Amino acid sequence: MKFSYVNHTQIHFGQGQIQAIAQAIPADSKVLVIYGGGSIKRNGVYDQVAEALKEHQWTEFSGVEPNPTKETMDKAVALIKEQDLDFILAVGGGSVIDGSKFAAAAAKYEGDSWDIMTGVHQVAEAVPLGVVLTLPATGSESNPAAVVTKAATHDKLPFFADAVQPKFAVLDPDVMKTLPERQLVNGIVDAWVHICEQYLTSPAGAMVQDGYAEALLKNLRVLGGKFDQRDNDEWRANLMWTANQALNGLIGAGVSQDWATHMIGHELTALYGVDHARSLAIVQPSLLRNQMNFKQAKLEQLGRNVFGLSGDDVAEQTIVEMELFYHSLQVATQLTEHQTDKASAIDAIIDQLESHGMVELGENQAITLKESREILEMAV
Ligand code: NZQ
Ligand code: ZN
Repeated sequence: MKFSYVNHTQIHFGQGQIQAIAQAIPADSKVLVIYGGGSIKRNGVYDQVAEALKEHQWTEFSGVEPNPTKETMDKAVALIKEQDLDFILAVGGGSVIDGSKFAAAAAKYEGDSWDIMTGVHQVAEAVPLGVVLTLPATGSESNPAAVVTKAATHDKLPFFADAVQPKFAVLDPDVMKTLPERQLVNGIVDAWVHICEQYLTSPAGAMVQDGYAEALLKNLRVLGGKFDQRDNDEWRANLMWTANQALNGLIGAGVSQDWATHMIGHELTALYGVDHARSLAIVQPSLLRNQMNFKQAKLEQLGRNVFGLSGDDVAEQTIVEMELFYHSLQVATQLTEHQTDKASAIDAIIDQLESHGMVELGENQAITLKESREILEMAV
């Protein structure tokens, strides 16, 4: 095991913490507050942000859509450049945060912003960014990743850059009170799969990473099991902190990682508009079965330590338990449940994977287009 690890995002966690942005953003900054479709206007988060920023100079950009697009974020970039804005405050879920990261990087680049996603432009600098999180799911609030879509071509791609890692993130669980049930469920499933993508690879004897990952998975299982009793502070706080810890770099430090479920899932979202988390629930069980040769030992470890399984065939039984967990939250594990024609869907997804260079996915690069097709034959 070998790694260098730091997570330099300062977390302000707990009820009432939105006011911390007053001190967290330098007083002389010209701030751009970026948000989505307006949920923050309806639930009081916008007012709290405005109150906290009353001594700052700030303006706003709204309308970032779920699965943020280059097309929308280019408009934010133009505003940043025109008004010489020098701090971004993203107020929203993963989409607003990712879109803001993209804008933060694109504002420091003169070429076409999509060059960031294709790797033509390597991001070394960005406008500094802070976050008020309103939807616990992606972990984007304290990691260097962003996923952005080019609407014109249905390309949904990730990029990673230290320069866009948020300086701070406010995690006030009270903001979750207005989240629709569907988004709360999405958060549980997305965080679950994030942990799996860093855990279900080959055994590395990494006791800290494995043990913490198992603790987080157990949390999600308990919180999912208590979904009917979710309207309380403790439930909200635990989900928010668990989802954050699932993708802040710690459990992935020094161990191999997979991310194939995400890369295939992104194509489902880009082509068919499936919610991010729901795309993962469709792909993951079939992918785990397809890759059983590589994943059996860790599936067994997960089954024993998280689901309390024992006896024969624990690896397959673990996948069944995961499917049951998703179904208990009314999350489908087949694309057919999202009303799509099977043959044409598989061809379209494979074409997109190929055009995005996603031809050797997984911790062993063992998921070529052949395996992706096999996975989709099972999942679609
Ligand atoms: O647009 P608004 O009005 O904010 O409404 C949003 C949106 O409609 C709503 N919402 C958010 N907070 C709310 C609320 N509604 C009521 N009350 C609140 N407190 O929820 C809807 C979905 O929001 P979105 O941000 O799209 O959801 P999520 O956080 O699940 O983000 C998904 C995006 O993150 C990317 C995904 O690919 C997808 O584009 N991911 C980013 C990652 C990262 N940067 O590390 C990792 C993930 O694997 C993921 O790929
Ligand atoms: Zn995800």
